[in-house]
Amino acid sequence: MLDHDQAPPLSKESRRPANPLLRRKPVEQLVAEGGQGEGGVLRRSLTMWQLTMISIGATLGTGIFVVLGEAAPKAGPAVTISFVIAGLTALFSALSYAELAGSVPVSGSSYSYAYATMGEFIAWICGWCLVLEYAVSVAAVAVGWGQYLNELLDGIFGFTIPEGLSAPLGEGGFINLPSLVVVLLAMVFLMRGAKESARINAIMVIIKIATLVLFIGIGVLGIKSGNYAPLAPLGITGISAAASTLFFSYIGFDAASTAGEEAKNPKKDLPRAIMLSLGIVTVLYCLVAFVAVGAMPWQDFEGTEAALAQIMTDVTGGSFWGIVLAAGAVVAIASVVFAVLYGQTRILFAMSRDGLVPKVFAKVDEKTGAPRVNVLIVSLFCGVLAAFIPLGKLADATSIGTLFAFALVNVAVVILRRTRPDMPRTFKVALFPVTPILGFIACAYMMYNLPMPTWIAFGLWMVVGVVVYFVYGFRRSRLATAEM
Ligand code: ALA
Repeated sequence: MLDHDQAPPLSKESRRPANPLLRRKPVEQLVAEGGQGEGGVLRRSLTMWQLTMISIGATLGTGIFVVLGEAAPKAGPAVTISFVIAGLTALFSALSYAELAGSVPVSGSSYSYAYATMGEFIAWICGWCLVLEYAVSVAAVAVGWGQYLNELLDGIFGFTIPEGLSAPLGEGGFINLPSLVVVLLAMVFLMRGAKESARINAIMVIIKIATLVLFIGIGVLGIKSGNYAPLAPLGITGISAAASTLFFSYIGFDAASTAGEEAKNPKKDLPRAIMLSLGIVTVLYCLVAFVAVGAMPWQDFEGTEAALAQIMTDVTGGSFWGIVLAAGAVVAIASVVFAVLYGQTRILFAMSRDGLVPKVFAKVDEKTGAPRVNVLIVSLFCGVLAAFIPLGKLADATSIGTLFAFALVNVAVVILRRTRPDMPRTFKVALFPVTPILGFIACAYMMYNLPMPTWIAFGLWMVVGVVVYFVYGFRRSRLATAEM
């Protein structure tokens, strides 16, 4: 078990870099500073089990409950194969995450790994991309939550929240109130600190896993073998297009790596939690997809909003189990909002301690051990984004930012093996360097497949990020002030 020691003074290596953009933070420095915030320290309370639940919490949600319905018409019954392909792409990067999380067990995730290997500027860019992966996806997922909530209300009470209050300006309404509410609810729980948050998260994760197991158990009764033929009506192209779409459903397995400074035994438990969570969600996804396309002809997924709930209703011949499934989905998607919001606050915590974002993000409340101001700012930002901005286009932006961060992690693992070959590693990527290289290629290929408007949005986001860095972080960085 680690303690949060006093941070040692910055090493010579970090104080006198040849090029300030390349100044690196030594691994030992990152680890020694772990947990230390402004006015308090984060508490080490999370077990391997809870870390796994955080990653599953951040991963399993919209992808399986909503995006499966969009992917099935692209691949046909072979959508299960698409899930396997997307899962393999995630696996390459997950191995790299596991190795780095075991060697650099801090809360900044890929941002910190980049800081230790590629220098401050790339680390900043990575952190900026993580805002796309985390904060923007919280908002996008919150919007999906509102839609499922409406399904549920419709099923139980026969009414839905009027469009004026459930859609933003530009999409026929004024405000997306349900999305705002789910983000604010998550905020209230996160204010209680990591231990409490992990408990609430575990309950939600158990509910969502139980919902999917229930779906598999009931859905299997409705399987008709004819629905599996032909297996791939739209060929390899359809399968890989669906795999790209489904990659979204794996985003989040890295969330445990944002809890490095609150884990009891991070070096051992983080790699295990990352791999275990990916394994569990992959198995669940494949089983659910296999049952879903067996129970409902793949063509019928087109235009069916809550396909899994529909299947439950059709198989049982009554609406009860469909409603149960919709309720499970509401919990599932809320838990993604919760776990991803948690991750974003911890990444900003690490960036703030490095001086790249304002200090207020690293302020720790002594009583709860939670970065409460940070939680408040991030939640309000995500809540407003979810409530007022039409987010349809932003889901792809989330994927591109994530893929970029994943690609950097695959590079970081190779660099760290070269620069620090003897460093103790609790987990090692298999078949090094083939796996991280494949991971990098897979991420680059998926990015390449994303449409032009997404690239333009990504480019603009990056330009803003570079400007923010030179206006703020470049001079205020802790490494820069140490130089002065
Ligand atoms: N993987 C997360 C979800 O599917 C983002 O909701």
